[in-house]
Amino acid sequence: MRTTLKIILPLIVSVAAVSLLFAAYQVRTEKRILRNDLSRRAAILGESLQENVEPLLERGQEKSLQPLVERFGQREHLKGVAIYGATGAALAITPGIALEFRMRPTAATRAAQADTGAGEFLSAEQINAYNNETVPIHIYALPLHSRGAMAGTLALFHDTSYIDRKVSLTLRDSLLTALVQTLLITGLAFVLVQWTFTGPLTRTAKWLRTLRTGQPHAPGALAQGEILDQINREVTQLARDLNTARAAAEQEARLRDTNASLWTAERLRVSLRGKLLNKPLFVVSNREPYMHVFSEKDKSINVIVPASGVVTALEPVLRACNGTWIANGSGSADREVVDVKDCLRVPPDHPSYTLRRVWLSDEEDKGYYEGFSNEGLWPLCHIAHTRPIFRPEDWVQYQKINRRFADAVLQEMEGTESPILLAQDYHFALLPRMVKEARPDARVAIFWHIPWPNAEVFGICPWQRELVDGLLGADLIGFHIQSHCNNFLETVDRALEALTEWDRFAVNRQGHLTRVRPYPISVAFPEHSRVINESLSAGAERAALCAELGIEASLLGVGVDRVDYTKGLLERFNAIERFLEWNPTYQRRFTFVQIGAPSRTDIERYKDFLAEVSAEVERINARFQTGRWKPIVFLKRHHSHEEITRYYNAASFCMVTSLHDGMNLVAKEFVAAREDERGALILSTFAGAAHELPDALLVNPYDVSQLAEAIDRALEMTEEEQAVRMQHMRHDVRERNVYRWAAHLLSDLTEIRIEISDRAEAHA
Ligand code: G6P
Repeated sequence: MRTTLKIILPLIVSVAAVSLLFAAYQVRTEKRILRNDLSRRAAILGESLQENVEPLLERGQEKSLQPLVERFGQREHLKGVAIYGATGAALAITPGIALEFRMRPTAATRAAQADTGAGEFLSAEQINAYNNETVPIHIYALPLHSRGAMAGTLALFHDTSYIDRKVSLTLRDSLLTALVQTLLITGLAFVLVQWTFTGPLTRTAKWLRTLRTGQPHAPGALAQGEILDQINREVTQLARDLNTARAAAEQEARLRDTNASLWTAERLRVSLRGKLLNKPLFVVSNREPYMHVFSEKDKSINVIVPASGVVTALEPVLRACNGTWIANGSGSADREVVDVKDCLRVPPDHPSYTLRRVWLSDEEDKGYYEGFSNEGLWPLCHIAHTRPIFRPEDWVQYQKINRRFADAVLQEMEGTESPILLAQDYHFALLPRMVKEARPDARVAIFWHIPWPNAEVFGICPWQRELVDGLLGADLIGFHIQSHCNNFLETVDRALEALTEWDRFAVNRQGHLTRVRPYPISVAFPEHSRVINESLSAGAERAALCAELGIEASLLGVGVDRVDYTKGLLERFNAIERFLEWNPTYQRRFTFVQIGAPSRTDIERYKDFLAEVSAEVERINARFQTGRWKPIVFLKRHHSHEEITRYYNAASFCMVTSLHDGMNLVAKEFVAAREDERGALILSTFAGAAHELPDALLVNPYDVSQLAEAIDRALEMTEEEQAVRMQHMRHDVRERNVYRWAAHLLSDLTEIRIEISDRAEAHA
């Protein structure tokens, strides 16, 4: 209330002052107009009397003057008339005129002297000074002539008290209007301030207090409006940070209490800060952690965080050690926000590490990314029976872009002694050697996020020797699972002259030792994910989602994938069709929601596949659909993590049917989301995740009947069995989370002894 008064009081004073000034101006104007009007009327009347008097004077009929003035004196507001002779004494005067005016007044003297009309206003007090008159008057005088000579003056006396009365009325009205205006504006301002300012801020303060005191609470409807939106964003971010920090602190305390070995973002940060000895960490990947894009609506710049487990894992480390992330600037507005060195500080909310963007032309992107990486290496490494395409011109671009990224990395590393580099994925097979040749003191690791096929398959690539040699420039190569490490060592054996040390999983090539290890990637297991966003129960969430989708269904299944031929989408849909054929009682009850983010759509195979999948969904729906129910809802767009989590929580099961997958984080995300310990996971044995989640319903995605049976099994599973399986899976994912992945990989890398050990091993 005090704050409101502080804002309102100056407003009241200002409005009142302005209104009063305006009232005074109105009164002055009114008075001036009325007086001018009276003077004008008196002049006309005076002239008409003059015309009547002068002939009488000329003819010497002075006796006729008295009846004339008495007749004239009866006009409205006219108090009286007087005619003075040349001496100034009254020749004729209306009876009501004060004795004082038996001699001519000042105005008449002035008129006689100037030989023209003259007027004056006299207040009641001034009259009183003469002879106890009680009303204010106006005197207008004119000279009188007879035979060409000045013969006297005439004077008209008007009662002006009516002017004072009118002015007082105007003054009263103006003051009343000013008062009403002040009250209205003040009231309105009070309501507006309360509504748009103090009210929302009070609510925000209450909300913050609730959070500070540690009670779970939904954000509620916070204030809206440009400035308040900005404050809200900041406050919400602050609240989130507070919650995250509190959750981390509680978790740390619990861990200390139980001596458990759980990895958290905070533990990773502290552990690696010690191991990196305050040195920055360098990360290079094709996808960037933050993309800036122009909005289609108003061309403003928005920030997008690509859904990526690697970003979750590496951000805490980069934040802790003020590192640098080098990546392809692929957002439409990326160039708008970088400095002259193509760098910017991220994350936008807490700038704490550097993102260096590397630019590619369309032609380079086509050859290096679409061609060699995604039409060549991707199908080569995924056994999904899509033939890899290796074009010499793509290979030229792949080498050129690896060199460009390596140069950017080397530039960023300048001035850092024994820098540490983590390269990401199949886009950069040549980069480790390029960096290592220029900076032998650097510790270099590369993590290969996709499967590594057996040696025979990899041998299809015409440039397998160059790729393997490039990778062996690294000190450490990481894969998701052991069998990919084995396949890699076999490939080295076949492709190159190198000493493969199977007993300690390392390769010695020309005196340089490369360790090869499995590091199964994972997700950040969210603890207390409901502190800020209170979620609905699975049933309520399902009902809400069905209403949003415009369908009727009492059971949901969910799949979340990029639309990629390795994900087994057609097999999955065929299995849903078979399941509904075998179990007609599920028709009109069960719907499968497929979230499919279109991906790499400039590549022909991906475009065709998207069309093929869409057609298959349409065919199956057309076969079964009735009323507001259909078997499959295919949502063809990118969904945020929050949107996907709602489907995870509403579904009876999640289906991951990759024909081949390095790990597949959807399986782990689904498990991490199910705090209610309900729901079943159907998981392909050909996804790396199957090695870690034996409590899923493991399936061969090529066996459509087996998939259909698994759907049946998932929908019929008792709540007890769901809980037991989910508890085991949640325990595994929680323990082997993404922080553990980063901690193991980076701590192995930091522990590698450069040069001394390499030379010793080279001479061994
Ligand atoms: C999947 C793979 C990653 C790969 C990424 C690239 O997530 O598992 O290994 O880096 O796709 O996707 P993009 O959209 O950048 O081609």
